[in-house]
Amino acid sequence: MCGIVGCIGINDPVKYLIEGLKELEYRGYDSSGIAVMDEEDLKIIKAVGKLKNLEEKVKKIKFKNPFSGIGHTRWATHGKPTELNAHPHKGHFSAVVHNGIIENYQEIKNKLLKEGIEFISQTDTEVIVKLFEYYYEGDAFKAFKRVLDEIDGAYAILLITKKEPKKIFFAKKGSPLIVAKNDKEIFFASSDAPLIGYANSAHYLEDGEFGWVDDEIHLFNDEKEIIPAFKPLPSNKESAKKGGFRFYMEKEIYEQFDVLKENTLGRNTKDGIKFDELDKEFFDDINNIIISACGTSYHAGLVGKYLIERNAKIRVDVEVASELRYRDPLLSKDTLFVVISQSGETADTLETLKMAKKAGLKTLALCNVDNSSIVREADRTILLRAGIEKGVASTKAFATQVMTLWMLANYLGDKNEYDAINEAIEVTKVDTSIHEKIKRLSKRYLHGHGFFFIGRDIFYPLALEGALKLKEISYIHAEGYPAGEMKHGPIALADPELFVVALLSKNILFEKTKSNIEELVARDATTLTISSEYIEMTDDFIKISEVNHPMVEFFEMMIITQLLAMEVAIRMGNDVDMPRNLAKSVTVE
Ligand code: F6R
Repeated sequence: MCGIVGCIGINDPVKYLIEGLKELEYRGYDSSGIAVMDEEDLKIIKAVGKLKNLEEKVKKIKFKNPFSGIGHTRWATHGKPTELNAHPHKGHFSAVVHNGIIENYQEIKNKLLKEGIEFISQTDTEVIVKLFEYYYEGDAFKAFKRVLDEIDGAYAILLITKKEPKKIFFAKKGSPLIVAKNDKEIFFASSDAPLIGYANSAHYLEDGEFGWVDDEIHLFNDEKEIIPAFKPLPSNKESAKKGGFRFYMEKEIYEQFDVLKENTLGRNTKDGIKFDELDKEFFDDINNIIISACGTSYHAGLVGKYLIERNAKIRVDVEVASELRYRDPLLSKDTLFVVISQSGETADTLETLKMAKKAGLKTLALCNVDNSSIVREADRTILLRAGIEKGVASTKAFATQVMTLWMLANYLGDKNEYDAINEAIEVTKVDTSIHEKIKRLSKRYLHGHGFFFIGRDIFYPLALEGALKLKEISYIHAEGYPAGEMKHGPIALADPELFVVALLSKNILFEKTKSNIEELVARDATTLTISSEYIEMTDDFIKISEVNHPMVEFFEMMIITQLLAMEVAIRMGNDVDMPRNLAKSVTVE
């Protein structure tokens, strides 16, 4: 998804802009660009594809004492990923970067076209800079405010203009934007990562805030100037580096053991589950739970349903947020509305949260990014403590989501599974001999007409997640199915070129799942079984530990499905961290 950076008053703005955009790469993008103000001119450089293409072009430009700039990574929404559509967009004397969507851009464009103003891109963003220049009559802030009054939709905007070159104008509504500073320099970014190491404190803009920066921050809400609420920024960037692994995804798979320890620290205690963020009264009068989320987070929610209904005896419905938000759902006040999101910025999930609040429901977020839009909106938040997740395919965030839901199920049901939780963390330490075996096995799974991942109970959502992981990064078609559902249609696809990954729990419905595998084997499907108990009929087998709790099996199988997806994708020659067409944080619907 698009990323924004900006800076002023800094010795080498180009360096910050490029480094900052690199920090945002993990969000996914298809083109990028920067606009730099120097003593000569406003210089705009753009490129399609990876940031190294932009870097190459930037190297060829001579800047004369540059002093400010704005930058952008674009994930195409309006118009194809071309250089013309890449940001910054320029007018005659100004440039703009924008995240979000200007809903009434066509209307504004038509109005400006009638005035003889020309457009060169297919984007909604270009109207911002053109409208700004149209309204400019000697006072840039006044013109900028008129633009904000006229545009509808969601945005984070940075604008620079040669008319007032020592300023950057900014505004936020619906898309994230942060303004940060150290003693003398001011920076912008759409998330924390680019700011770390440059700034020491940050103001997370609220919707409706706007203003400009010169050597100070002039922040407004409505017509009133307000004081920024600065918070300290973290100072350690190391955790966001690859640390010797081939891909961030690999590092993040290996990190899960530490991350889960962090996630459960002070929460999973010998005396039961404790959440500092919650009090039992918060759950008074709650008879139902709705969980709303997208993608991987939705799969975690499905696991949560099994766990909460089983351990706490509270009815749970799990909803895909993009469906729920338009469905006019029946929301009753005895329902706790839970949203799950790694990024905290997923537009669909955020909208359902707003909808639930409007209906008067209590809301709880399970989220990885503090100060994100979802965290700010929810009544209560349990932070996932997964650290920055850079791989576009979510791994460690999923692990923490499931673990948090497991703890929540125990918290609500007054259950104590202290030892089982610790055991589940233990099995996420990657066994390098299993990883080696998966590397070897992966070469057998590169062709074929698709994969089925099958499982029952909590292993069904894990099957869905295993299939999603594989298709996201290998681009091979994969589906997750409840094992018992195969005979109702999907088994028609079974032949030697259909690969089945069977999640065979020893603790839940072993015999039934085994029969489902047999049915597939009888129709000649190629089968990889993951279980603690070897079954003769399978083509391939990966053994997990013999344990008594299904959730311990769950976490060990999770690691194996993640590694399998990654090794298949690596053999296919794909960029595992930045799969095609995907974005890390989906801030548009
Ligand atoms: C898949 C993946 C996505 C996200 C989904 C929701 O690997 O990462 O399916 O889970 O886009 O994102 P969040 O959790 O940030 O709301």
